[in-house]
Amino acid sequence: MKRVAVIGSTGSIGVNTLDVIARQPDRLKLVGLAARSRIEILGKQWTQTDAPYLAVLDTDKAAQLQAQIRPHEVWGGTEGLVRLATHPDVDLVVVAALGSEVLVPLVRAIQAGKAVALASKELLVMAGGLIMRLVREHGTRLVPIDSEHAALFQCLHGVPPEQVSRLTVTGSGGSLWQLSAEAMGSVTREQVLAHPKWSMGPKITVDSATLMNKGLEMIEARWLFNVPLDRINVVIHPEAVVHAIVELVDGTLLSQMSLCDMRLPIQYALSFPDRWPLELPRLDLTRLSALRFFDPDLERFPCLRMAKEAATRGESACIALNGANDVAVQAYLDNQIPFAEIPRIIADTLERHEIVAHPTLDEILASDAWARRTARECVQCLTQ
Ligand SMILES: NC(=O)c1ccc[n+]([C@@H]2O[C@H](COP(=O)([O-])OP(=O)(O)OC[C@H]3O[C@@H](n4cnc5c(N)ncnc54)[C@H](OP(=O)(O)O)[C@@H]3O)[C@@H](O)[C@H]2O)c1
Repeated sequence: MKRVAVIGSTGSIGVNTLDVIARQPDRLKLVGLAARSRIEILGKQWTQTDAPYLAVLDTDKAAQLQAQIRPHEVWGGTEGLVRLATHPDVDLVVVAALGSEVLVPLVRAIQAGKAVALASKELLVMAGGLIMRLVREHGTRLVPIDSEHAALFQCLHGVPPEQVSRLTVTGSGGSLWQLSAEAMGSVTREQVLAHPKWSMGPKITVDSATLMNKGLEMIEARWLFNVPLDRINVVIHPEAVVHAIVELVDGTLLSQMSLCDMRLPIQYALSFPDRWPLELPRLDLTRLSALRFFDPDLERFPCLRMAKEAATRGESACIALNGANDVAVQAYLDNQIPFAEIPRIIADTLERHEIVAHPTLDEILASDAWARRTARECVQCLTQ
């Protein structure tokens, strides 16, 4: 029986994770739930699941929930998340939360020897070098939940690194990939948030529309699989059936295919190294009319180009890219800036960034804070 804590349980991945755990009562036991501030949902999840440990990042909200469910304890703040992620009753931590505040709980979980199932790609973009070094040093395991990386992880299983020639991350193209540059200038919020294939949280849905999501995923793959960036590419695949491709040195292509349902990669990350049955609709290849693949257009999607450039500049440029993107996307979601300003805010932040070579945890957090401050100043300039 694996005892699982879910950080980000109230979000899209979190809810799917709870569903997977409920389907495997003999193999998985939910022992912890954590969120940022939505205590109404967290409280309901606690009542329904009876998970003994609860943490809320926002300390005021933690105190409110505590008052509602006294004498049960609710842990607050980053320390609360760390306490949950390192608790002796937890074997595996699912990290599915947004925000750089989750980096320290992730690092502490790895240092405590916990197995990790990771959805939060932003943390690998910020601190992939550090995270993967700690995973090796502490002899623990980190399995990706992101569908493309779950696909790569499965295709690479048992393949010696010297036999791998290239990794391809596929993407449906998001909600806007067929629009002209002109039409993209006046897209509505409804258009941006209408992802053609996946139902996800708002931040990743906007990232899919700008293709920043694919840029973040290239960087994520670089750290997870220790493959240099010039051997990782992105291909637009509108059917979203082939989730990633591994090319071997003899030209053989290995891929993983399935319908779009995050419960599949989530369950695999929780079951690894086993594979368990899962009752979900199956892919019927005879019902597919085509599988199409296209190069992404870096002119129309400058966020993907900037992500590639940042990755080449170095680790701290990726921190700046990620922090600025978080701020710009939130400003867009809060109706403060139009969609077209998202790449401009990221570009302005990157332009002012000074590279820090091989950043430590403190330097990573400082670079992240700097990038967020700088991007917020850019947002303020636009809204004045
Ligand atoms: N959704 C998908 O299908 C999908 C697929 C692949 C990868 N991912 C990745 O998974 C992560 C989560 O995505 P999502 O779509 O599930 O997001 P979401 O629906 O917006 O949920 C975010 C979750 O994180 C919590 N949270 C936000 N900021 C936090 C913070 N600073 N500290 C602690 N918890 C925080 C939220 O708590 P509150 O509810 O209290 O705000 C919520 O539980 C992202 O990194 C995303 O890129 C998602």
